[in-house]
Amino acid sequence: MPSVFLKTYGCQMNERDSEAVAAQLVAKGYALAPSEAVADVVLLNTCSVRDNAEQKAIDKMTNLAGQFRKQRPGVVLGFLGCMAQSRGKELIDQLPDVDLVVGTQKFHRVADYVDDLLAGRRDQVVDTDEERGSEATIKKHLLNGAAHGKAVSAFVSIMQGCNQYCTFCIVPYTRGQERSRTIPDIVAECRELVARGVREVMLLGQIVTSYGRRAERPAPSVDGQGPSTLDPRPSTSAFVQLIEAVHAIEGLERIRFTSPHPKGYGDDLVAAYGRLPKLVESAHLPVQSGSDRILKLMHRGYTRARYLDIITKLRAVRPEMGITTDIIVGFPGETEADFAETLSLVREVEFDNAFVFKYSPRRDTPAAAMPDQLPEEVIEARHAQLLATVNEIAERKNKACEGRMLEILVEGPSRKNPARLEGRTRTNKIVVFEGSDRHIGQVMNVRIVHAAPFTLYGDPAILNLN
Ligand code: 5AD
Repeated sequence: MPSVFLKTYGCQMNERDSEAVAAQLVAKGYALAPSEAVADVVLLNTCSVRDNAEQKAIDKMTNLAGQFRKQRPGVVLGFLGCMAQSRGKELIDQLPDVDLVVGTQKFHRVADYVDDLLAGRRDQVVDTDEERGSEATIKKHLLNGAAHGKAVSAFVSIMQGCNQYCTFCIVPYTRGQERSRTIPDIVAECRELVARGVREVMLLGQIVTSYGRRAERPAPSVDGQGPSTLDPRPSTSAFVQLIEAVHAIEGLERIRFTSPHPKGYGDDLVAAYGRLPKLVESAHLPVQSGSDRILKLMHRGYTRARYLDIITKLRAVRPEMGITTDIIVGFPGETEADFAETLSLVREVEFDNAFVFKYSPRRDTPAAAMPDQLPEEVIEARHAQLLATVNEIAERKNKACEGRMLEILVEGPSRKNPARLEGRTRTNKIVVFEGSDRHIGQVMNVRIVHAAPFTLYGDPAILNLN
């Protein structure tokens, strides 16, 4: 059978989509190629969130279409995902060697399209249509990742799209309107994962705090017959109801999710951390800016004070909470004073880590047309300054773990040094230690003996006692 090489750019949602595409291809009998050089089909699953992500995929494809394709004319080349969705056929006009362009609602069609192209039934395929129900098609898993054929942690896609329309963000245009899978469908997938050895699930969506908001809330079943998808408790959001349902799965150890939006971060979600022990003490909560003026221009729907209030509440419920965020520097019109507000928020919250992004104008977004786009040097300088602050705090927080005993879930061989194992603390910090294969998939306590800036090292002596 032909072999496929699939390269993924961007976020965890993209990784998950790629895994589902790969699982589909494998089910049809395709082999997964270890590199593009030996593959019969090369697919790039793309990201549009910033210009450099798009550029990377375009450069890669330009290379493939150049020398590579000339040597092996039969190779099928394709773009999938967000950039495919937003640019569509334009990509083929720019790079005529590309055979396949498949958008974000058609991942489940990729394997059939590849069949058609290889068999010569079609010359080119561009499919960026919307499809009702496509949010429920990302459900197949490979689960034979790095760790000796045994995946400990799995991504589960719970919804697609976003209706928030932040003025900088291309996602509503690439991922479409919010569409949620049902609770029973998601729970069934999680159950199957657990049956296959998974101990942790990461619930994924572009804006998980909006999960189920657009679904019709079914009336409670009067006759006690048909099970309602959502239980109509007004104080409990659909997202928290989903977490409760996943929490009830026996054998599952940990639940994570990403990304929530501060606007929808209700008290019920904060309280869920207090009462659901499998929901680990880890929150990724994108803030984007510390300035109310910029937050408003971004159309974020919350203030600095409201954001800080959520953080205070989370820490009241779980003092150990590991908190990470996303921040954009250089949004149009951002003044030194606005930037100073972001710096002060970062110092006040003391994030465990933060992704700091340079603002990148995206097509069709309101911010791209705003006056006062900042010069590159200003954005660079603010990026460097903020990153230095974030890193200094992150290192300090890591150092504070030295000497402590922490619970980790062992995921598999360390990515840095495969002779060792790595696991994650409940607060989402990576711990590298010496262990053996039998530890993979276990929840265990290790003593942290050393903290490097981004990694903790656990004590093997303690482990040997287990
Ligand atoms: N420019 C820079 N960063 C962006 N992000 C989203 N859109 C842009 C943009 N136009 C960042 C946000 C978001 C993360 C996934 O990417 O911080 O949370």
